[in-house]
Formats: sequence, structure tokens, C-alpha cells
Amino acid sequence: MDMPHTGIEVRRPRVRSASFRALEKASRAEGYWMLTRLLAGWRDGSNRVSRRGEAVYGGFYGDELVGVCGLNVDPYIQGKREGRVRHLYVAAPFRRHGTGRTLVRSAIVTARDHFPALNVRATDEAFPFYEKLGFMRIEGEEFMTHRMEFQPLRRRPPLGKGHE
Ligand SMILES: CC(C)(COP(=O)(O)OP(=O)(O)OC[C@H]1O[C@@H](n2cnc3c(N)ncnc32)[C@H](O)[C@@H]1OP(=O)(O)O)[C@@H](O)C(=O)NCCC(=O)NCCS
Repeated sequence: MDMPHTGIEVRRPRVRSASFRALEKASRAEGYWMLTRLLAGWRDGSNRVSRRGEAVYGGFYGDELVGVCGLNVDPYIQGKREGRVRHLYVAAPFRRHGTGRTLVRSAIVTARDHFPALNVRATDEAFPFYEKLGFMRIEGEEFMTHRMEFQPLRRRPPLGKGHE
């Protein structure tokens, strides 16, 4: 799918694979629960990330899964169909090498074809990350700290010149 200069390849991970479970275990050991929730939703069928516009991206270093990012229809927005970045996690040794950026950019590329906006509720330490990627800070919303709005498809400039 995508091969950035970091040597991380983005492709769809198998959520039930041993490599996913290994990454999920590493995330839990750090006190993060986003992959545990993704796995639980997948197992009980409540979130298979399979509706139109939804996707799970995996960042692979060779065969090793080192990062995950989910793109869901935003369950917190009523009456509108918007996207939400969820379950973003990069293994600690692979951080600050562009893996998170590559994963979220993949989600943005998909989201802009399916949703008018992409929302996220970031942890405090991830605020600079999302802002570097172009997300706007949103104040006073319980379920959203950052948002990226897309131009309607018909008003977009030709490919390569538009918003990412
Ligand atoms: C947040 C997270 C996904 C970022 O992934 P990453 O692979 O380290 O991010 P990148 O290397 O692609 O960072 C891209 C840019 O974001 C900014 N950034 C990333 N992490 C940052 C940090 N901790 N502090 C300040 N800026 C940061 C930097 O500008 C960085 O570019 P630079 O390294 O060239 O300066 C990763 O730190 C992580 O998994 N953290 C634990 C789980 C988590 O917080 N998930 C997010 C839940 S909303």
C-alpha cells in the first residue's frame, strides 16, 4: 500500500493474528487500552471496522506489526456521518520515526473520500502529533479534541494540489 522512507509498510493487519496480539500486549503493558478495545469489539462483533469508509491500517516493519490506526464512522456524532480516528498506537521503539504520521495519513486519504470531516479525541501527549498533521484543536467537546474538515469532493483542486 505505502512504503515511506522509514521502511514501514502500511497494509491491512489481521486483527486475530499473533502479531496483533503481541502489539496489543505491549500496549497494555504501557497502560494503553486502545488495541484491547479494538480486539474486544472485533471479537464480539460490535466493531468489525467494516462499514463503508471504515478501515484498519497496520504499520509493518518486515513481518512485524509495529503500529495500528483505525478509521471508523464516528459513533459520537448524531445525525451526521463523519469519520473518527481511533485505536492509534505505535510501539514505543518505533515512535518519532514517522510511523504514526504514515498511518494517520492513510486514514485521511480514505476519510476524505467518504466523510466531510475526521474527528479524534486525543490523549494530552498526542495533541502536538495531531496538530502537526493539520488537525484543528476543538475546545469544550467531551468526545472530540481535534478535527479535520474536508472540502466537498466537487470543489477539490486536481490531485496533488489539494489538502492531504
Ligand atoms: C501518538 C503516537 C501515535 C505518535 O506516533 P509516532 O510514530 O511517534 O509519530 P510520528 O513519528 O509520525 O510523529 C509525527 C510528528 O508528530 C509530532 N509528535 C509526535 N509525537 C510527539 C510527541 N510525543 N511530542 C511532541 N510532538 C510529537 C512531531 O512533530 C513528529 O514529527 P517529528 O518527529 O519529525 O518532529 C505515538 O506516540 C503513540 O502510539 N503513543 C501512545 C499511544 C497514544 O497516545 N495514541 C494516541 C491516542 S489519541
